[in-house]
Amino acid sequence: MSHNTIAINRRMDKFDSHDSVWLFGYGSLIFKADFPFLDRRPAAIRGWARRFWQGSHDHRGTETAPGRVVTLVPEAGAHCDGMAYLVTPEEFAHLDYREKNGYLRLATDMHFDDGASAEGIVYIATHENAAYLGPAPERDIARQIALARGPSGPNAEYLLHLAQALRDMGKVDAHVFEIERHLAAFGIKSGIKPAKPPAPA
Ligand code: BEZ
Repeated sequence: MSHNTIAINRRMDKFDSHDSVWLFGYGSLIFKADFPFLDRRPAAIRGWARRFWQGSHDHRGTETAPGRVVTLVPEAGAHCDGMAYLVTPEEFAHLDYREKNGYLRLATDMHFDDGASAEGIVYIATHENAAYLGPAPERDIARQIALARGPSGPNAEYLLHLAQALRDMGKVDAHVFEIERHLAAFGIKSGIKPAKPPAPA
């Protein structure tokens, strides 16, 4: 599958006739909602785990030095905490463009913290997309993140913002927090811009 998923996502018209649609955010959407929304509520989706397994050549890295950003991978019994936004269907054109590097819209149920649930959309980059990097030890992921920078800024900033946003919501994600711990060991902490790459292992 090519990197550019805009055309495929345009064909996903399941919610086009709705006045509003819930969008589940589990990555940068948690800490950077650069679109208008009607409501926002903490939520979770079940059967998926958040992983820094997707390459970023256009936001947090470059073609020659890709960064790593999150995608969701299916995992029995897992759940992923995030933030749900109620948006008008027109917002998806902007999101399709912002997330064009391999992410596909998927219809999913999301569960709000108050026990209610709704069907909506989540963007997922599967192992079939060309920018997919897949699993690696968390220390290696942290090293790659420490070195990468793209048009949207340092890759480490993305990780640190995500970890802080999850903490602010009272949520725990062992994978994210472990990578954050490795970054701290490299001297990269919240509020500190990555300056020097870490020494080789
Ligand atoms: C998110 O922040 O939830 C998100 C992640 C990947 C693509 C689009 C959105």
